[in-house]
Amino acid sequence: METHKPETMKRGEFLRSLGLSTSTLMAFYCIGTTMTACGSSSDNDPTPDPGTGTGTNGISGTTTGSAINFTVDLTKATGLAAAGGFQVIGDTIVAHTASGSYVALSKTCTHEGTTIGFRPAQNDFRCPNHGSEFSTTGAVEEGPATTALKAYKTALSTDGNTLTVTA
Ligand code: FES
Repeated sequence: METHKPETMKRGEFLRSLGLSTSTLMAFYCIGTTMTACGSSSDNDPTPDPGTGTGTNGISGTTTGSAINFTVDLTKATGLAAAGGFQVIGDTIVAHTASGSYVALSKTCTHEGTTIGFRPAQNDFRCPNHGSEFSTTGAVEEGPATTALKAYKTALSTDGNTLTVTA
């Protein structure tokens, strides 16, 4: 007596049996997952290099945690090229406060943790969530925050092209 073996077919085999080419199958897989899963999303990601490593944006070193120690190639970090610019880098926010002067603070508002921004006109930092304001030293200028932001040390290379930020 002949026993009937249950047939199993993988997803790819099934789709191929429908006469679909490999490239068409890949398109199905991409659409079936997320729109970014099969493409390069790094070009659209404004967040520079969280964590460690050297990226095309010129940031290398440790940008998160308690042992912050990284360098920024200012010829590549476009957000910091001109005075008044700022850039969130890992757990920090680095601002080009005046020509050749840089400030680095914790990016995390001490009120409820929102990422702060730099205001060049006021030369201070402001949280967009509830309006806390911090000086360039991290001190609270305006509540509801009551605790200062952590300030990091900044050092500019003699050629002015590399900024080092350390805890
Ligand atoms: S989270 Fe920043 S002011 Fe509330």
